[in-house]
Amino acid sequence: MNISSFFHSQLCVKLPVPTKRFSGQTIIVTGANVGLGLEAARHFVRLDASKVILAVRSTLKGEAAAKSIAESTGRAGVAEVWQLDLTSYASVQAFANRASSLDRLDIVVNNAGIVVYNFELAEDNESTITVNAVSQILLSLLLLPKLRETSVRLKKETVLTFTGSFVHFMTDFPERKSENILKELAIRDKAQMKTRYYVSKLVQLLMVLELANLVSNSSKPGDVTVSIVNPGFVDTKVMRNASATFHFFFRPYRSLVARSAEEGARTLLHAAAGGKETHGQYLSDCKVAITSEFVRSNEGHEVQKQLWRELSGTLENITPGILKNI
Ligand SMILES: NC(=O)c1ccc[n+]([C@@H]2O[C@H](COP(=O)([O-])OP(=O)(O)OC[C@H]3O[C@@H](n4cnc5c(N)ncnc54)[C@H](OP(=O)(O)O)[C@@H]3O)[C@@H](O)[C@H]2O)c1
Repeated sequence: MNISSFFHSQLCVKLPVPTKRFSGQTIIVTGANVGLGLEAARHFVRLDASKVILAVRSTLKGEAAAKSIAESTGRAGVAEVWQLDLTSYASVQAFANRASSLDRLDIVVNNAGIVVYNFELAEDNESTITVNAVSQILLSLLLLPKLRETSVRLKKETVLTFTGSFVHFMTDFPERKSENILKELAIRDKAQMKTRYYVSKLVQLLMVLELANLVSNSSKPGDVTVSIVNPGFVDTKVMRNASATFHFFFRPYRSLVARSAEEGARTLLHAAAGGKETHGQYLSDCKVAITSEFVRSNEGHEVQKQLWRELSGTLENITPGILKNI
């Protein structure tokens, strides 16, 4: 994505209002109390989903979101609030454990994410890496058996999708040269926090692409589509931790260029609707799109494999045997 294609996408592309119905379906949306997650959940409820689980770190904020969805759609009781804190592996495990008793699970939208500028550890990595990448894959692998079971029993495609970002284009990812990339990213004194969000979205993308490969090659039954979606530049509170000076200069630019959260959420609905052509793909503007040159390069493929090997060790420590879920 170069500057001109970015502005074309933001200013000229009209995203279709989702119309595909999700009747009878159970859908999980993480980070659904605000921003893109809230608007995606609202669309799912409007489009007749049976149960939309708002996976949120604050249940108070989640209840306010559920109320707003019920009021705007006229469908009370469809949005349910479940607690999930991606900075805690125990919280991810507890959430997944609760989800294992669902009758069915049709779609998981891994949407929650953070942008922070201070180095803080969450579990065994810097918090952006934990929330935007590692915990999302942990959650996904723990939910995969339910997605497979639903697919087999109801003879249908199920969908596991992630909210990625065009910012994966905006880093040369210096940590990629390290012997152990995840360990390198967890070193406080070396962390380049100004660009950490970009790196986290690149790491997330590489992990999702590898997961999609592994799901394609799995002999387990069930038809699970794995994708990652760029919602574009969207007017949300995601930059809430940036400085006052940043906001001073950023505000006019955002009001000219950014999509509304509702418009951005249409891209999440497109990904959630699935379709074989979306499996293993990076989606943007409601279609299959091209990742950065680095992601497509031989080096990118090697780094993707390396990251997955490192991640596998972490995941097996958290939940022994988890990789067998693939
Ligand atoms: N806005 C953009 O321009 C843009 C562009 C590309 C990609 N994205 C991606 O879109 C996704 C949604 O972001 P947004 O723009 O809608 O921002 P947002 O309004 O800040 O929403 C982020 C959501 O993630 C939740 N979250 C943060 N940390 C969490 C944790 N530890 N556990 C569980 N939930 C947590 C937040 O909960 P709280 O409200 O409790 O903090 C909130 O619900 C993110 O993955 C972001 O990287 C955004």
